[in-house]
Amino acid sequence: MPNTSDPPDRKGWPLARRVGHIEPFHVMALLARARELEAEGRSIIHMEIGEPDFETPQPIRDAGARAIGQGGMYYTPATGMPALRRAIAGFYRTRYGVEVAAGRIIVTPGASGALLLAAAALVNPGDEVLLADPGYPANRHFVRLMDGLPVGIPVGPDSNYQLRCEHLERHWGGRTTAALVATPSNPTGTLIEPGELRRMAGFAASRGGALIVDEIYHGLVYEGAAQTALALREDVFVINSFSKYFNMTGWRLGWLVAPERYVDAVDRIAQNVFLAASTPSQYAALAAFEPATLALLDARRDEFRERRDFLLPALRELGFGVPQLPQGAFYIYADCSRLAGDSFVFARDLLEQAGVAITPGIDFGEHGATGHVRFAYTRPVAALREGVERINRFLRR
Ligand SMILES: Cc1ncc(COP(=O)(O)O)c(C=O)c1O
Repeated sequence: MPNTSDPPDRKGWPLARRVGHIEPFHVMALLARARELEAEGRSIIHMEIGEPDFETPQPIRDAGARAIGQGGMYYTPATGMPALRRAIAGFYRTRYGVEVAAGRIIVTPGASGALLLAAAALVNPGDEVLLADPGYPANRHFVRLMDGLPVGIPVGPDSNYQLRCEHLERHWGGRTTAALVATPSNPTGTLIEPGELRRMAGFAASRGGALIVDEIYHGLVYEGAAQTALALREDVFVINSFSKYFNMTGWRLGWLVAPERYVDAVDRIAQNVFLAASTPSQYAALAAFEPATLALLDARRDEFRERRDFLLPALRELGFGVPQLPQGAFYIYADCSRLAGDSFVFARDLLEQAGVAITPGIDFGEHGATGHVRFAYTRPVAALREGVERINRFLRR
């Protein structure tokens, strides 16, 4: 890490040092190449895309369009429209049986905005944040933006590809300020048991730190139902979003639930950094919690489960290693080391030669990265079946 007290280099054009730590999503290069091949007339099966293929439900689109028609698209309060904050609190009540004060809910531009607010509120320069490796690539970069140090902790099948309390106990140091987990996880789809999460939050609190729990894939859980960390303790930071379960990626809307004593600080940061989340999107999201919308979303969740139940055995049959059941999200993180030397080369060759796009492990960290790839089942079963047949022919060629 560069020493932040070094005098700035004024000889070249100005670029902040922290930018040197910000990597692109490598899959974007593959996606661009896939689009090029499609423009040349090649058929590509997309199993790399981390967003639902389903359209935003009609009631949500109608509510957004109605609001735009009525006008009044001014800034909302930085913490979000009071009616939407109350609706989210109502969702915690009906879905999880948990009382969350609407005043603790801050509406943000996606989970990305919520992650940025949490990092800005918690991380001082030089502070460490513990993260699972593999994990969502942007997390380490949010920490870097605050001049903090992301500490990637290798996780594998023995801990369900998740951090456990024992990891926090082993890696928590004098500069550690927080641990950030996602359950279900991207890229592995695996969950953290509620008891484990409670222990982790208790441990972080006992060390004067915070536990941040990214619940963006809640609602897309196929073995039972995930419990929100808000049911376990009041002092966790919970991240969520309208992107995945609600099929609203492009609307850029999410939320952060902060412990009461942080709300004022988070509000001040949000006022300055975003002013507010998108007003039409907030009106649209009010329709997300209507019973008819939720019934449609749950039917779509069942379709995701059917896709997983097709793809998982098919990949194992092809020789990919998936030792743990991916319980949620729409990802399968597979060990390809028996089939290929380097997962990036494998993903590239699979795209060029077989017309199947997947995400190489390097997008999710360093641990086991060259031996793993991520499959997203964000396409109907027929497309996944065609993808599996193409991979089979590619491997047997
Ligand atoms: C684990 C995780 N957190 C956060 C995000 C950001 O999502 P958004 O900003 O669309 O809500 C993603 C997106 O893929 C993700 O996988």
